[in-house]
Amino acid sequence: MNAMDFDSSQTLLDHWLTPQDHLSVDETGTLCIDGQSARSLVKKYGSPLFVMSERTLRDNYRRIRAAFTSRWPRPVNIMYAIKANPNIAIRAILGEEGAGGDCFSMGELHATFEGGADPAKIVVNGSWKSDEIIAKAIEHGVCINMDSEEEVDAIERVAAAMDKPVRVAIRIKVLPEDYFAEFTSDCFKRPDFFGAMRRSKWGETLPAAERIIARLKDHPHLRMFGYHTHVGRASKDPAMFAAVGGELAATISQLHKRTGFAPVMVDLGGGWARERDPEASGELRNPNPIEDYADAVCTEMARVFEEGGCPLPELWLEPGRYIVGNAGVFLTSVGVVKTDADLGFTWINVDSSTNNLPQVDLFGYTYMVLAAEKMKRPLSHPADVVGQTCVPSIFGKDVPLPELEEGDLIAILDAGMYAEAKGHQFNSLPRPATALVSGEFSWLIRRRETLQDVFGTMVVPERFARNG
Ligand SMILES: Cc1ncc(COP(=O)(O)O)c(C=O)c1O
Repeated sequence: MNAMDFDSSQTLLDHWLTPQDHLSVDETGTLCIDGQSARSLVKKYGSPLFVMSERTLRDNYRRIRAAFTSRWPRPVNIMYAIKANPNIAIRAILGEEGAGGDCFSMGELHATFEGGADPAKIVVNGSWKSDEIIAKAIEHGVCINMDSEEEVDAIERVAAAMDKPVRVAIRIKVLPEDYFAEFTSDCFKRPDFFGAMRRSKWGETLPAAERIIARLKDHPHLRMFGYHTHVGRASKDPAMFAAVGGELAATISQLHKRTGFAPVMVDLGGGWARERDPEASGELRNPNPIEDYADAVCTEMARVFEEGGCPLPELWLEPGRYIVGNAGVFLTSVGVVKTDADLGFTWINVDSSTNNLPQVDLFGYTYMVLAAEKMKRPLSHPADVVGQTCVPSIFGKDVPLPELEEGDLIAILDAGMYAEAKGHQFNSLPRPATALVSGEFSWLIRRRETLQDVFGTMVVPERFARNG
């Protein structure tokens, strides 16, 4: 359906609404997030503003958990991949829901602990881990997903010094060649995806995994716990996840035969696409609900494990985007509206930039852009919505919008994932605030940055000190 087939931002929204969105339009034609009007939120917290919906977060978590627990006969651990949005309040909500955690750094471990996650349900990932992070994981009883043979000795050394056991899993490099031979990603623009996967730094193949398991007998503090893999948001096709899960199950079953080790858990990583899907190069609709991914993966993995004679392990997952993506809306105010009648273009300048939604520049994400207070107004000539930085900073090209003027509000959907997490300060622009909404309540969960936050870490040597 062509964007110009719609007559207002409201009909666009209605068309693209997905099940866990708590978005509506009030009688004045203003977008409401979890029942609160965009304008009232900006009045309270300023512009630009990230708004996170607590109900959407909880609904997303519950839906993905239900999808997998109803299809996998063993326990399922849904670990929030905090890289997608590291706000501690968000982590706390997911902690209340019982989510485990996937962490990559001391910072992510810190936020995950602060948010109250159960350490028994947390993994620490990374292609190389410092002694500091290994010690932190061991101290709290967190599972370490080992990425290489080389890591085995380092983890044993730290655990021995602390005289504590540690659960470890091996990240497997899963390369279902049959599936990937003809594969093009709808997300990563790589001409040879299979080659790039082979070349990627992540994980070990079967022979190295077998050597690691053999070596564990000389590493008394390491308790082999399971296996991990993550291909990520390479495709929205459930068949890709089934191919990866099946290949992982086949590798694990082989290792079970050769070493006798039956894993407690298998961790399938993240990458689960949402139904409104800004990362798929302009095709905003992903027709596959999460239940289809769960069906494809659980059926294939159970089949391969059974065929390989390996007992079914627990299923652990690391969704990031699925949990936080549509929980976030970015609100930004219109500045100058510039029109060049000769060229036939209109540019709507806003008080933010793609510094705040960097996936636009990094991966070509195409977001849904709405006139937050003129949701019922007729759409006029399409316009480009552009940010303040010295790069093009195009939030949306040819966006169907009504006539807008300075001070109007724009809403950009699906801003909960990899936006604040990757946001930066290019052109010395402070980062926006974030508010959490829940029914009639709202809270500031990240304050707006100031110029002091932009420049406060810089140290000017005494010799440059300015007089007075
Ligand atoms: C190991 C690992 N797990 C989970 C995730 C989360 O992925 P997503 O947000 O696509 O679910 C990532 C993302 O890069 C990752 O690298």
